This record gives sequence, C-alpha cells and structure tokens, in this order.
Amino acid sequence: MQKNFFNFLLILKNKFLSEAHEVVTFNQLSELRQKYCSKEGILFQATEDFKALPSVEKKTIGNELINLKKFISEFFLKKEEEIFLKKLDFPEAIHFDPSLDRDNLLEGSLHPYTTGMSMVSDFFTSIGFEILKSEIVTTEYENFTSLNIPEGHPAREEHDTFWIDEKQLLRTHTSNVQVKAARERVYPFAFVSVGTVYRNEASDASHDFMFLQVEAMYFADDASLASLLYIIKNFLNFYFDRKNLEIRARPGSFPFVEPGLEIDFQCPFCRSGCSVCKQSTWIEVGGAGMVHRFVKEEMGLTKGHKGWAFGFGLTRLVMLKHRINDIRKLHQSLVTIG
Ligand code: PHE
Repeated sequence: MQKNFFNFLLILKNKFLSEAHEVVTFNQLSELRQKYCSKEGILFQATEDFKALPSVEKKTIGNELINLKKFISEFFLKKEEEIFLKKLDFPEAIHFDPSLDRDNLLEGSLHPYTTGMSMVSDFFTSIGFEILKSEIVTTEYENFTSLNIPEGHPAREEHDTFWIDEKQLLRTHTSNVQVKAARERVYPFAFVSVGTVYRNEASDASHDFMFLQVEAMYFADDASLASLLYIIKNFLNFYFDRKNLEIRARPGSFPFVEPGLEIDFQCPFCRSGCSVCKQSTWIEVGGAGMVHRFVKEEMGLTKGHKGWAFGFGLTRLVMLKHRINDIRKLHQSLVTIG
C-alpha cells in the first residue's frame, strides 16, 4: 500500500506538470486550480485517500503529500505572476497612458490608396464599367507581345522589368489585363482594373519600385477619341471634386494604341503655375488611345470593332490630392495591394 501511494503521488506530480505546461492564460490557470485544489479537487481526494492509510505508513507518506501540495501551490503563485508580467509586455499596455486627453488623439483613417481605389471603382461602376482583378505575376505575352511590343522592341527597354524567369515577370503596367480580359468578354464591353505595377528602378521622392495604375478599356460602336476624352475629364473632375478642370491631349507613342495620346490635366491647385505643377499649370496623368489593330486581332476582334484604352498612375493622383511629397512615405507600412 505504501509503495502504491508513493507511486500514485509521483504519477500525480507528473500529470500536474504536463497539464501546467499548457497553461498560458488566467482562465486556464484557474481551471487547473479548480481541478487540483478545490473542495472536490484531486489533492483533496488524495488527502482523503491518505487519511485511510494505516498510521505507520502515514508518517513517511505524509511528508511526500505535503511537499506535493506545497509544490503545487507555489506553482500557482509563480505562474500567476508570470502571466501578469507577460500581459504587461503587450505594447498597448505599456503605452497606455490614462492621463492623455483622448479628444486630442489622432483618429485612425483609411490609407489614401484605399480611398483612391474606391473612388475609381465608384466612378466607373456608376457608368457601367466592370471592375476587374488582374494578376501581378504575368507573362511576357500579356505584358508585352500581345500589346504589339515584340522582343527587341525599344518599348521593352523603357520598362525596367523584374523578370521571374524567361517568360514570367511582375507586370510593368496594368495594360497586361487588356488582351486576356477582352478575350473572356463579348463585344461590347467596358472594364477597369486597378493594381500595383513594378519597375526595377532606384527609389527617390517621386519613384519607387512599385506604384498603382488604373487601366480603363471601352469597346462599343460609339467608342471614339471624343468619348475617351470625355470620360477622362469627368473622372478627374470627380476625383479632385471640381467641375471645370480641363484636360489636354498630346501625341503619344504606345505600341498598343493608334492614335496614341499623352493626357495632361489642369493643375487643381493654381491658375498661373505653382510648385506642384512645376510652374507649367499642367500635370501629366497617363496614356490613352484607340486600340491598335494588332491588339484587336490578339483579342479575337476585327477591324470593325471599336475600342479605346486609358492607363494612368493612381499613385500620382493620390499624392497630389493628399499633398504627399515623397512616394516612400506613402508606401511605408503598406503590405500588399491585390
Ligand atoms: N500602359 C501605359 C503605361 O504604363 C499607359 C497606357 C495605357 C497607354 C493604355 C495607352 C493606353 O505607360
């Protein structure tokens, strides 16, 4: 009997240790305490069993039982302190200052990219455009070849590309969505795609290896330069909350549009030149044009199908709107944009 009780206490201690090892919260600690130390608990039961032993055995076993009880109650004290200190490790606990005036604390807000993207989607869905997701990791075909930029074309050199392997890359512009999305749709169609694009160039206040672009594409019998410019102008007025911002189009060269245009818009902050527009009163926003016949063929469309495309840097618009003068500040703490 003595030997058995001895073993029983040993097993009990090991069982307790393995359960105690799992404890990380105050709740778990109090459950464990309940299990071992309460009135119906395991230690109470063990004491009852101990009482039933013949008195000769009680002497030696008694010390073992007392040691175990002491061990367990010391464990609870130590663990309680440990959990409490761990809790204090959380930054919000350390930085919590009850004397701070809450009204003067800065409120959190949405990232300027989030509000910019939702303005794009609000505007274009209101005029019936579909919002598309497109892939960041794309193929050489989608990003270049299908857009009339074959191997060796100088336009490829202008895009400092992050190649993944011989055929795959990080998209250098959102135009990579054009051919794939058009093939999956039936004429007439209209869509917009917003996303990050990547260029392998050094960072400075106005360049980063990543920025946000928007691609808009419209295919219908009434697609024309007039409707293209009309939509661009209306979008910019909507984005900057203006009524009469003017735009202007200059000839631009993009292999996937003919004719191709570079679009500028009137500086929203001045009439006669300021530091934002570098005294020119115009700000460049992106490229546009009627879809090139080569690209239409790749899309499975014919010459008679009319369509235009427009691509612009949303990063630039966001920086202007929020007067952010360094792109790196905008990108700090950003994780990923799908
Ligand atoms: N993808 C072009 C760029 O990144 C912009 C563009 C889009 C031009 C659509 C024409 C038509 O510069």
